[in-house]
Amino acid sequence: MPYSKITGLGYYVPENIVTNNDLTQYMDTSDAWIRERTGIEQRRFFTYGKDTNASMAAAASRQALERANLQAADIQLIVYATITPDYYFPGSAFLMQRELGMEGIAVIDVRQQCSGFVYALSIADQFIKTGMYQNVLVVGSELQSTILNKSNEGRNVAVIFGDGAGAAVLQATHEDAHRLLSTHLHADGRNAEDLYVRDPGTSRPGRWVTKEMTEGSGFDVVMNGSAVFKHAVVRFSEIIKEALDANGYQPTDISLLVPHQANLRISEFIRQQMGLSEAQVFNNIQHYGNTTAASIPIALTQAWEQGRVQTGDLVCLAAFGSGFTWASALIRW
Ligand code: UT7
Repeated sequence: MPYSKITGLGYYVPENIVTNNDLTQYMDTSDAWIRERTGIEQRRFFTYGKDTNASMAAAASRQALERANLQAADIQLIVYATITPDYYFPGSAFLMQRELGMEGIAVIDVRQQCSGFVYALSIADQFIKTGMYQNVLVVGSELQSTILNKSNEGRNVAVIFGDGAGAAVLQATHEDAHRLLSTHLHADGRNAEDLYVRDPGTSRPGRWVTKEMTEGSGFDVVMNGSAVFKHAVVRFSEIIKEALDANGYQPTDISLLVPHQANLRISEFIRQQMGLSEAQVFNNIQHYGNTTAASIPIALTQAWEQGRVQTGDLVCLAAFGSGFTWASALIRW
């Protein structure tokens, strides 16, 4: 049976840097509050006319393909995770496929929020393990700056999120020593409304978008921050342990944990709870905020670029997010 191996990584972030102080123009907040509660110092917001969800994904994918020594024509499937698509439908995978000139190949849009990239990786892995495809492009991309309510009403959410994209090329291999070992996926819809955007939704009377609706808060990201925080710290630890147990490893065996970049306090909490050293955990939320499905591939790419992912390392990816969803992947690099 073939296994999967990550052979190329790439990322793209918009050039527009928005500091915590920049946000004080729009809302009552402060650099000190944001840093203390989240660890975030700055994030990137898109530039209109230059960046789109799909164009950021295409830039990240071009870099991943080049590093894998592959051409766009070698890819047989795109699995694309986002919750902020360019259109309501079809998904951004179609637009990125068009931009990269990959017409005709299969695309799958995944919307599993902050766990989206790990879910996408797992889907790609299943197609490779069955032998159906040999070269798959896995993408996480988010353009979230336009969905944020940057007034006082939305400040608990608006200060957290940013824009960006990351991509990984997954290829079939028969080499047992260097491969994706396992993926683990979970979801619990009981908490769906603890982090959600209600509109535009279809299950209401009349047209699905009305003038009144745009004046309300239905399009805003609603987040019960403390509920998300409490569930996150429990589920992150569970999902990392599940991946380690499935492969007979201990936390001390982890070379690098790349957690979804939700909040530096959450990462730090998990690190201490699992008895990991600072060198065992990668964080870059300080620079990019929470980029939802893009956060893990951006972080993994940067970790790799900085030499923190070496051949033979045991790398764990772990995510938690809206849904709720939680997921992990264990990789022998
Ligand atoms: O991928 C999953 C994504 N989401 C998460 O990971 C979120 C997890 N949750 C969190 O990270 C935290 O709950 C937050 C950082 C969102 C909020 O931190 P908190 O310590 O739970 O703050 P809070 O919501 O309890 O608010 C504390 C105070 C409130 O004021 P009062 O009622 O105590 O007077 C808020 O109104 O802070 C106020 N506040 C702010 N003040 C300055 C809320 N947002 C802001 C802000 N700037 N941006």
